Amino acid sequence: MLLENKVAIVTGGAKGMGRGIALKFAEEGADVVVCDIDLDGCLSVAGEVEALGRKALAFRTDITNKAQVDEMVAGTLDDLGTVDVLINCAGGVPGTHGSGATGTFTEEEWDRIVAINMKGPWLVSEAVIPTMKKNKRGRIVFISSMGAVSPVVSVLHYHAAKAGAIGLSLNLAFELAPYNICVNNIVPGPIETTFWDSLMPPGPERDAFFAAVSKREVPLGRVGSPKDIAGAALFFASELSDYVTGQTLCVAGGQPLLAQEATFNIEAYLKERGLL
Ligand SMILES: NC(=O)c1ccc[n+]([C@@H]2O[C@H](COP(=O)([O-])OP(=O)(O)OC[C@H]3O[C@@H](n4cnc5c(N)ncnc54)[C@H](O)[C@@H]3O)[C@@H](O)[C@H]2O)c1
Repeated sequence: MLLENKVAIVTGGAKGMGRGIALKFAEEGADVVVCDIDLDGCLSVAGEVEALGRKALAFRTDITNKAQVDEMVAGTLDDLGTVDVLINCAGGVPGTHGSGATGTFTEEEWDRIVAINMKGPWLVSEAVIPTMKKNKRGRIVFISSMGAVSPVVSVLHYHAAKAGAIGLSLNLAFELAPYNICVNNIVPGPIETTFWDSLMPPGPERDAFFAAVSKREVPLGRVGSPKDIAGAALFFASELSDYVTGQTLCVAGGQPLLAQEATFNIEAYLKERGLL
């Protein structure tokens, strides 16, 4: 048990990676606070955590709303007494139209997507840091995006916000190291979750898209699953990473290395570049 009797808050815990992380942490002995704008999803995941023998709380929390964030953290302290781990997982591009490239979205859309992916993680971090400082121990993990560091498509608001969140995490790592609070980043590659639903509904077209992405862009040749991310989150949340802070780990099947086709079809690769 790597998280025995620890208390972990997982934002965006109702679905996808957040759910995967919540369940992995419960298996490792943690009590889990599941917060998300999707209350039904929170309640369902909280039920799954309890079925694993751990305590769970469910909060309908919009991480861009300071009052709701503060209420969620106060409720956690009232019921579970402390916070040991924060996973800043809530994010994405819910409800967007257009590709996100130059000229495809409004100023309001910029503000909304940046708030979800950068301001929200800041608000939740601010709310838990006083408790972690008092405990002289804490773990904060940000879930970023490959597009923040090595984009293959242009999604300006989302990727810029994710890059901003990496900057935020590095500053927090620096500031909080004297309190034994470690702050790290996970950079996921393509992971099959409901994240993709607003961009492309599940079905044959999406399967074909993932197959093409796997072949072209992922050296390990497959898209990832929430389990892949949960393993890395467990490392950063537990004592296995006690001497690690301010780091960014790509959990991305080998991205941003060269894609499989280019790497393995060396002849075509060299011909394309006029070297053969
Ligand atoms: N799936 C991918 O391929 C991928 C790749 C790179 C990064 N990411 C990032 O990983 C994280 C998890 O994504 P996922 O794939 O599990 O997506 P998901 O859509 O399955 O889950 C995201 C969760 O965040 C919640 N959420 C959205 N806005 C919120 C808000 N304002 N307040 C509280 N909760 C909110 C949603 O309700 C949802 O339950 C996100 O930050 C996403 O940007 C995903």
